[in-house]
Amino acid sequence: MFETLNRLSDDAILGVMAKYREDPSPLKIDLGVGVYRDAEGHTPVLECVRTAERRIVAAQVTKAYVAPAGREEFNAAVVDLVLGREHRAVGERRVIAVQTPGGCGALRVGAELLRAAAPDASIHVSDPTWANHLPLLGGAGLRLQRYPYYEAAARRLDFDAMIERLERAPTGDVVLLHGCCHNPTGADLDADQWRTVADLVSRRGLLPYLDLAYQGFGADLDADAQGVRLIASRVPECLIATSFSKNLGLYRERVGALLAVGASEARAAAVRSHVLQIARSIYSMPPDHGAAIAVEIFTDPALRRTWIAELATMRERVQAMRRLLADALRRLGGDGDYDYFERQRGMFSLLGAPPAVVERLREEFHVYMTADGRMNLAGLAPSSVERLAQAILRATR
Ligand SMILES: Cc1ncc(COP(=O)(O)O)c(C=O)c1O
Repeated sequence: MFETLNRLSDDAILGVMAKYREDPSPLKIDLGVGVYRDAEGHTPVLECVRTAERRIVAAQVTKAYVAPAGREEFNAAVVDLVLGREHRAVGERRVIAVQTPGGCGALRVGAELLRAAAPDASIHVSDPTWANHLPLLGGAGLRLQRYPYYEAAARRLDFDAMIERLERAPTGDVVLLHGCCHNPTGADLDADQWRTVADLVSRRGLLPYLDLAYQGFGADLDADAQGVRLIASRVPECLIATSFSKNLGLYRERVGALLAVGASEARAAAVRSHVLQIARSIYSMPPDHGAAIAVEIFTDPALRRTWIAELATMRERVQAMRRLLADALRRLGGDGDYDYFERQRGMFSLLGAPPAVVERLREEFHVYMTADGRMNLAGLAPSSVERLAQAILRATR
């Protein structure tokens, strides 16, 4: 039977990881996979996680199943974190949350839900968007369309083009929006632009699907959720996929949640029943350990303070790398406009060079990034910035 299956090419991001591992050069720089690294190149276990984990292991008395919805105390804490206790939709009991295996699990369950609710709807994703959005959403059978998002030459959000295209999206279609720290461009909407998008989706009857995978990596936990909160207050219904891989450093534990805002309490409850059925049919129940850690951190005031401080350290380190890189490029005589490294937010920016340059950076200079030129700036250290700047200038000249 399996003779019908030809070998697939490697996943683009995982392929870069493999090439990096094989490179024996001590000078190699990994800007590939989207994980945070400290100045020594490690992806640390946060102190708040270590403490929470010790407590959980000491207190745990069973490994019996939890439930398809995961831990309810986790789900409630995620609603607080994403929307805030004062949010109108929360007060009206129109919000449901279901724990999922990471943000990917949330995105896929949400896509399956959309496919069941509106089989003919298209989902509009930004061009470019995170590569894995395409299989996660398309794999559920959703038709994908792209809206312009980024003006590569100016290295800026192309907001007018985005709005112009979304104005033409048919009522009932879905729009995927990155809550903050857009992957791969680092170019986010400002407060006015979020208002314009909120007006547009509510006026045109589009369903917003918000992907919030980097809450806390842009400005802080609250500020990074402002766009999501605004949209959720302006539309009758929306979906939110959230992930704690990055902001708690719980990548391999698979911690995330799918939130849905319904037009009424009864509608939200109906949506929840479908979400649970979908979860049951794919993975039955989400893994528990990471969510147990997350609840401990969200709900214990001292641990939460430690988390917020550790999150600030991660965020500020990436911002510092952005500044150092822009400075080094200017100092070494680059004639480009490098302000964008400092203006953009989160881990990623696009180099804006053709694939041949990306390949040259890898082959000659041992600098690894995805073929589209996406750079994870958290892969930089003060000791590697100058080398990267030199490599970029030489490879692009
Ligand atoms: C934009 C975006 N959404 C969602 C995710 C989901 O992450 P995970 O499934 O690891 O929680 C990621 C991870 O890289 C991401 O970049």
